[in-house]
Amino acid sequence: MIQHVAWAITLIAMGVVALSFLWVAAGAGEFAEYPGIVERAYRLRKALFVILLAISGGVSVLTLGDLPYATASVAASQDGTLRPVQVVEAVGSRWQWELSPHRIVAGRPVQFRVTSTDVTHGFGIYDDSMRLLAQTQAMPGYTNVLTHTFQRPGTYHLLCLEYCGIAHHGMMGEFTVTSH
Ligand code: CUA
Repeated sequence: MIQHVAWAITLIAMGVVALSFLWVAAGAGEFAEYPGIVERAYRLRKALFVILLAISGGVSVLTLGDLPYATASVAASQDGTLRPVQVVEAVGSRWQWELSPHRIVAGRPVQFRVTSTDVTHGFGIYDDSMRLLAQTQAMPGYTNVLTHTFQRPGTYHLLCLEYCGIAHHGMMGEFTVTSH
């Protein structure tokens, strides 16, 4: 959904750029007074500035209240308490994943605490049709926190997303999300 919106906005912006190129090219032969052009450019710049200020200000006011975003998504699904329901320790090592606990409940946020025992791995969570749902890095000596809510019960897959040696391609895992 959000990709479609982003794609539409990109197309419109590209159209605007293309049109302005055409407009400039069409008027290239005409002669115009320099001071007049400068004045119009300044007016345009001022208008753009005000529009940008309004947009960024509006977006900030609408979204700042949710900061930090990960915590907000956890709190929202939990009647106001900030503690995530399910904490899962995820440890990567050449060339396997270890999750504890192994079972996860759908519809409630999961906080994956991701780390590694050796080199950096990429922790990628895929659904059963191998669509990437969420990802972060598994780094030695550091814990990355990744929060995700599984909407549907089923089997989910882990794939390593960072080249980590000879058996990197085989570094896969699996876990089950249950309905309750
Ligand atoms: Cu672990 Cu690639």
